[in-house]
Amino acid sequence: MKPSAPPKTYRVKSFGCQMNVYDGERMAELLGTRGIAPAPEGEEADLVILNTCHIREKAAEKVYSDIGRLVLAGKEAGKKPLIAVAGCVAQAEGEEIMARAPAVSIVVGPQAYHRLPEMLDKAVSGKRATDTDMPAIAKFDALPARRKRGPSAFLTVQEGCDKFCTYCVVPYTRGAEISRPFSHLIAEARKLVEDGAKEIMLLGQNVNAWAGEDDKGRRTGLAGLIHALAKIDGLARIRYTTSHPGDMDDALIAAHGEVDKLMPYLHLPVQSGNDRVLKAMNRQHTAESYLRIIERFRAARPDIAIAGDFIVGFPGETEAEFADTLSIVDEVRYAACFSFKYSPRPGTPAATMDGQIAPEVMIDRLQRLQDRLAAHQYAFNQASIGKTCTVLVERTGRDPGQWLGKSPWLQSVWFEAPAAIGDLVEVTLAAAGPNSLKGLVRETLPA
Ligand code: 5AD
Ligand code: SF4
Repeated sequence: MKPSAPPKTYRVKSFGCQMNVYDGERMAELLGTRGIAPAPEGEEADLVILNTCHIREKAAEKVYSDIGRLVLAGKEAGKKPLIAVAGCVAQAEGEEIMARAPAVSIVVGPQAYHRLPEMLDKAVSGKRATDTDMPAIAKFDALPARRKRGPSAFLTVQEGCDKFCTYCVVPYTRGAEISRPFSHLIAEARKLVEDGAKEIMLLGQNVNAWAGEDDKGRRTGLAGLIHALAKIDGLARIRYTTSHPGDMDDALIAAHGEVDKLMPYLHLPVQSGNDRVLKAMNRQHTAESYLRIIERFRAARPDIAIAGDFIVGFPGETEAEFADTLSIVDEVRYAACFSFKYSPRPGTPAATMDGQIAPEVMIDRLQRLQDRLAAHQYAFNQASIGKTCTVLVERTGRDPGQWLGKSPWLQSVWFEAPAAIGDLVEVTLAAAGPNSLKGLVRETLPA
């Protein structure tokens, strides 16, 4: 590769989960400390980071077409952008990317991006750089202080996964479970609140596996961290995602009844409602044990909104087994869900299992599942009508004078009243659609 001028502008394109969004923000901050600025809207950037996701579908193919598009756009603009591939595709397929895509200068895995500045220097000097190490020392220590402004901020507290569900690449791309230290998290949270965050979303692949020592040296789990975060003045809301049923403890369930700032929302994936499928998935829970956990959350916090993830068409899934998934949906009455067709991931045990399901069967099951989930989501929204709650204002709505934000149950709520981004506005939920609700502010309520 030829040496190139140091980049002055960057663009980070993040795909996939919220942790990738967080990582993307941290990479942007890191580039900021090097004096590299975000590329203005509509302009080609000198450096483009594709922060990729490998969890489903033809992720790698998408990366190659994105690279092709970037090269072409660069040519049209008369420049040659530096291209970096980050995230889980970089981790899983770094070598192939380097071999197949000569336009790529940097391949950096999710545990190595704190070393991006040195890699960039190397790339500028004309050498290609790859780093997919998973060092034991957390990258977080090497990253600059947070600069995030905005009412809702992500905070990664835990990374990696030791569960090895048989369909999933995460244990391979993100590595083993690690928890960030308590004191670092409290400090980062304080900084976020100083910078204007009203809500913090604690992130982890298995966030409820977080464990550490509190300021008094006592072993504590996520509940202890939440209790400590709740003491931060100016922080109004705490959320966490994603949890694993196997890591649930009494203290976290109880926290939902004890901590006002902890929002009444739980994202607890079940994936399937059938025990044979759950076993083949190596989920380490049954439909029944999952339902008991939900029951306990509801006892602690009766209005809690339950969300989840589902996979249809796991190898060998019969029609009767799929029917069990529809049944568990009806039992839980989910408020919001993500559902996916099973996608064989190279290197995972399920990819070579017998009984791979035909695409048309998967499409049909996904449709039926999504119809059922949508009906429950709509029913949940309808049942919220008449409730009074706060809305954290995140952005302006479609029409002038409209504001859009989130209810405690993570529903999108819009209202018309004087407000600003970051306000917590009390509204009465007055009308509900499948995906959003209309709120009325007290002063504008009919007498
Ligand atoms: N195929 C389909 N869905 C998957 N997920 C993870 N791996 C796969 C796969 N191979 C889904 C799970 C998980 C969510 C993040 O993505 O439902 O909870
Ligand atoms: Fe993947 Fe299972 Fe770990 Fe979730 S718990 S990240 S689905 S292996």
